[in-house]
Amino acid sequence: MVEKLAEEYNIHASSQKKACLDEWVAHYRSYATKGQTANYIPALRNKHLSQLGICILEPGGTMITSGDWEVPFTLQSISKVLSFIAACLGRGISYVLDRVDVEPTGDAFNSIIRLEMHKPGKPFNPMINAGAITIASLLPGESSPKKLEFLYELIESLLGKRPTINEEVFQSEWLTSHRNRALAHYLKETNYLESDVEEALEVYLKQCSIVVTTEDIALIGLILAQDGYHPIRQEQVLPKEVAKLAKALMLTCGMYNASGKFAAFVGVPAKSGVSGGIMALVPPSARREMPFQDGCGIGIYGPAIDEYGNSVTGGMLLKQMAQEWDLSIF
Ligand code: DON
Repeated sequence: MVEKLAEEYNIHASSQKKACLDEWVAHYRSYATKGQTANYIPALRNKHLSQLGICILEPGGTMITSGDWEVPFTLQSISKVLSFIAACLGRGISYVLDRVDVEPTGDAFNSIIRLEMHKPGKPFNPMINAGAITIASLLPGESSPKKLEFLYELIESLLGKRPTINEEVFQSEWLTSHRNRALAHYLKETNYLESDVEEALEVYLKQCSIVVTTEDIALIGLILAQDGYHPIRQEQVLPKEVAKLAKALMLTCGMYNASGKFAAFVGVPAKSGVSGGIMALVPPSARREMPFQDGCGIGIYGPAIDEYGNSVTGGMLLKQMAQEWDLSIF
């Protein structure tokens, strides 16, 4: 009887949350004109600007969705969280942190300036391109396919399915990634890059081209929210220490030079990608009233991005949710 009542309560609460999300998604879609698709990557230019979708996953398995939540998109910089985790698993945390720091920059995601300004040129964090390209070179394996295989296996262990690449997006970036090539050459000169330039770039740009939906990134967010524990499979799939580091990096560096504002006005760890994805998470909190007391993973897709490379409509939606549902960790 008690269980039945709890179940009915949950169904009711989820449909209330869904009704809010439907209203907010319909509202914030119209703000897509304030952003642009990532037009520096030719294959991302023609995405539908006003698409907006969200998936929220709760530890008990409840999934709440709204809008264009099933539209596939490429991970782009959200992959940096996964490659960082993979490098820590494969090489050990201290080995990785000797080569890439954990400090925010306040600069654009593809900036080169600090590498030269702060000798000896150690990348500031794994969420900016300089750090992520270095991380790609640190993945275990003597070739790009082997390094990628290590990353794919990690993703498969989290999502329960083998990731696929959007070849068109990969080729499009491979041919136009001059700034990333410059970063990689600089990192090679300063000895931070462990592999060849082209090998690290292939790994980095292929990880950016992995195809996901909001449900996939919501699940990764949920696992991180639970400190590496997969609540649906009831299994510890990542070491707690690595999950905590990844979350700290998402909070301090995940939205690039908008990370401070994001922490102040949204207040949850989040990572964006230029395709318009945002992976966010709400840790469990005894302090918080319902809803989401047990935490959740959040996946958002809205391809209109701002000057920082973050989804405009996705960011607005997340801010509304955080304020309305008191999600901030602070
Ligand atoms: O390196 C690049 O330009 C992209 N493939 C990834 C950048 C990205 O997603 C930055 N994010 N917001």
